[in-house]
Amino acid sequence: MFRTHTCGELRARSVGKQVTLCGWVGNRRDHGGLIFVDLRDRYGLTQVIFDPRLSAESHRVAEQIRPEWVIQVSGKVRDRGEGLHNPNLQTGDIEVEVRELKILNKAKTPPFELDKEIKNEDLRLEYRYIDLRRERMQRNLALRHKICLVMRDYFDKQNFLEVETPIMVKGTPEGSREYLVPSRLHPGKFYVLPQSPQQLKQLLMVGGTDRYFQIARCFRDEDQRGDRQPEFTQLDLEMSFVEQNDVMDTVEGMFYELTNQCVPEKNWKKYLKDGTFLRLTWRQVMERYGSDKPDLRFGMAFTDITDICKECGFGIFEKAEYVTALPVSKKLGELSRKDIDDLTDLARQHGAGGLAWMRVGEDSGPVAKNANKEFIDALLKKTKAASGDLIFFGAGEFIKAVEPLGAVRSSLGDKFGLKDNKEFSYLWVYDFPLFERKDDGSIQASHHPFTSPHLEDVKYLKSDPLKVRSYAYDVVLNGVELGGGSIRIHDPELQHTMFEVLGLTEEETQRRFGHILHAFQYGCPPHGGCAMGLDRVVMMFADEPNIREVIAFPKNQSAQDLMLGAPAAMPEKELKEQNIEIIKN
Ligand code: AMO
Repeated sequence: MFRTHTCGELRARSVGKQVTLCGWVGNRRDHGGLIFVDLRDRYGLTQVIFDPRLSAESHRVAEQIRPEWVIQVSGKVRDRGEGLHNPNLQTGDIEVEVRELKILNKAKTPPFELDKEIKNEDLRLEYRYIDLRRERMQRNLALRHKICLVMRDYFDKQNFLEVETPIMVKGTPEGSREYLVPSRLHPGKFYVLPQSPQQLKQLLMVGGTDRYFQIARCFRDEDQRGDRQPEFTQLDLEMSFVEQNDVMDTVEGMFYELTNQCVPEKNWKKYLKDGTFLRLTWRQVMERYGSDKPDLRFGMAFTDITDICKECGFGIFEKAEYVTALPVSKKLGELSRKDIDDLTDLARQHGAGGLAWMRVGEDSGPVAKNANKEFIDALLKKTKAASGDLIFFGAGEFIKAVEPLGAVRSSLGDKFGLKDNKEFSYLWVYDFPLFERKDDGSIQASHHPFTSPHLEDVKYLKSDPLKVRSYAYDVVLNGVELGGGSIRIHDPELQHTMFEVLGLTEEETQRRFGHILHAFQYGCPPHGGCAMGLDRVVMMFADEPNIREVIAFPKNQSAQDLMLGAPAAMPEKELKEQNIEIIKN
């Protein structure tokens, strides 16, 4: 037996016991002939002592050991003695006096110190196997494991079956660029890695599985951000014979279990409305907060002022389709001209031409200088802004008016310290528009093309598609989209129309989605589902700033695995076998 206990196990009651521990050498201190070593493993840290009077041989070897060597020690547990207990450490009452030391493995000097914050993330990722030894990383892995267990247990109790779906598939419809796998047996042909199991879970419903879930790996070749990875994990589910609320209730129940069992210290119940997560339509959140994933730990809602702008004297507002105001109480804090300039830049980055503003009671800013008194009076009445408060404005087409202001609101939330990590504000956003306009003017599915339109809006599908609402919903936590789903189209006719509106030719429809349209002709139950980004859930629960911290072996911000050295060039011979020729630019 290598060890009798782990490094996190021994307590005051263990004093006097003969034990053997294994682990990595952490901090080492020499004190007047005695050597103290922090021995570390996944479970914790135990102080071990080498005293030449107890074992001259162990003490001699201990003089040579260096950080991150792997050692085995045997000896007796003793009390640390009066005044030497460390209440911050679970094993802080005891230490082990070593009689025998065995070096199991030496280590090169690690590229960074494990007990210090390391700024160079690429270095951490290159040496991830060392980085993972840190307590924070082990804590995150353990939390991820617990979250998966609670999810599995919850869905099992709700009669769901966990079914694995294939990784080598055909194009999936989430709209990102896809990763391709060349086929050796079928030259010139490719498998595609799934962006999600979307079509397969729908086919499982046609197959009578009724309730499916999976902790599924997904692949998307898209630009990297803190909450995105090219390879990520979803908690994916699908249900037959359900309506929107059935799916939302089921997912919500999972979050109750998860929050209660994994992060009971979070304040989340105070954000419930009539005992459930707050549920707001897409139009409501966009009007009030300028975002489809607003952070509702703080207020700062907008006021629609379109109706008082028609003859306000400020041309930009008079002409705009929609005008909205964000009042910022001076009680929250002061904003300098520099702050306002920075917010203006931010609004521009989010598509605004600029950022109109005024300070109540002063003549500064473009609005106060141009607008008439009737407008200002009506504005103050509507927004309830008081003397000295700032008001920011958004004007233009609806989305162009509200979105930049949404970014301003979020930034002010950061600046005024309104985003407290102890608060957990869950929210459902539903009734998303079925389509959105792309930059080139064409339309695309907002969620994916299998999402069902509101049945009463079907009549606008061809004449006014942007008006059509969908049965799509997102679950949001503190301004982060944790998951999304929809009720699906189960009628092959309607699905056809959908592809037509999206501008797909009959031939393209058959090539890309023929299999699913075909399957729908063999008895497809009404169905719907949802998928949560598991990495994002763990990130939020662990209070981490990005999902790389909660993935054992993530890619870096340039989609590389620096530890394995992937992606990598392939030898000519292998490429040939795969019938691939590289075009050199
Ligand atoms: P969607 O594309 O909205 O829906 O994805 C669902 C959730 O997956 C997470 N996610 C990601 N996490 C990390 N890195 C990424 N690159 C990434 N992309 C998405 C998000 C997101 O909310 N098939 C549908 C679901 C359905 O309709 O049932 C789908 O995949 O948290």
